[in-house]
Amino acid sequence: MTNRVALVTGGMGGIGNAICKALGKAGHTVVTTYSKPGREDAWVAEMKTLGISAHAYPCDVTDAAQCAALVAQVSSEIGPVAVLVNNAGITRDGTLRKMSAEDWSAVLATNLDSVFFMARPVIDGMLDAGWGRIINISSINGQKGQFGQTNYSAAKAGMHGFTMALAQEVARKGVTVNTISPGYIATEMVMAVPEDVRNKIIGQIPVGRLGTPEEIAGLVTYLASDIAGFITGANLSINGGQHTM
Ligand code: CAA
Ligand code: NAP
Repeated sequence: MTNRVALVTGGMGGIGNAICKALGKAGHTVVTTYSKPGREDAWVAEMKTLGISAHAYPCDVTDAAQCAALVAQVSSEIGPVAVLVNNAGITRDGTLRKMSAEDWSAVLATNLDSVFFMARPVIDGMLDAGWGRIINISSINGQKGQFGQTNYSAAKAGMHGFTMALAQEVARKGVTVNTISPGYIATEMVMAVPEDVRNKIIGQIPVGRLGTPEEIAGLVTYLASDIAGFITGANLSINGGQHTM
């Protein structure tokens, strides 16, 4: 069965857009969120040209009330959320000596608090249905740490702690919870890294290039499928060999 409702946060970003397309092409009805309005109509129209049933809703994932209201609205207007992909995220890089409390809090709120804010309102429906998939998009830098990213590395490592705990709570009811940890993927987030620093990082990737959003989306689609029901609590690395564990 592939015609379920999949809710992907941040689906108009580089990786999220590819995830929405892949889930849509697999037959799911795709719902995404945005915090900056203006692109939603064009995004829905593009999905439509690909034959994908897609919907976009405004939602700041750092706001618990907005997340709960979104899930209620999607459930009543489209259907119960069967697949949740926590993909929305930001960076605010800087060494700890230069990091402000605002940069710490913004990164923790967007990358980590959001995972709780979205999972909490969807979990009862998944348990009642006896089927569900929660996929958290973490990062290689949550696995290995990264110079200049104490905030981001902490948030992304925290995501996997959440995954491991929730996976145990819901496994018996047909709900899986997994983390994907991408390495450096060619999106605006990575293009914001100064070119000289970025080129040094690319030099550390054994495959010799940045990853593509489609490579992440393929793994998400697999984890969202029925055949992936025995994978839960896992942290799946997809990083061109940059960090092996
Ligand atoms: N390892 C060791 N030392 C380093 C270093 C590194 N990776 N990077 C910089 N340094 C050193 C510098 O050489 C410098 O040394 P000196 O004082 O002796 O000259 C010192 O640290 C301070 O460096 P900067 O002046 O460059 O520090 P800064 O505060 O201006 O900039 C930074 C630091 C913003 C973090 C910059 O290094 C940077 O952008 N790094 C990239 C961080 C990164 O990888 N971000 C990933 C974003 S994409 C993403 O996050 C997606 C994902 O999940 C993969
Ligand atoms: P991106 O292109 O910058 O997209 C980020 C998305 O997050 C945007 O759609 C953005 O929507 C959304 N977002 C940010 N803050 C939000 C908020 N408060 N509420 C709702 N949505 C919000 O980044 P990306 O590269 O695709 O990254 C997607 C995810 O993959 C992130 O979690 C990132 O940490 C992770 N990741 C990326 C890489 C990489 O190399 N690119 C590697 C590992 C992990 P708006 O523009 O509407 O705010």
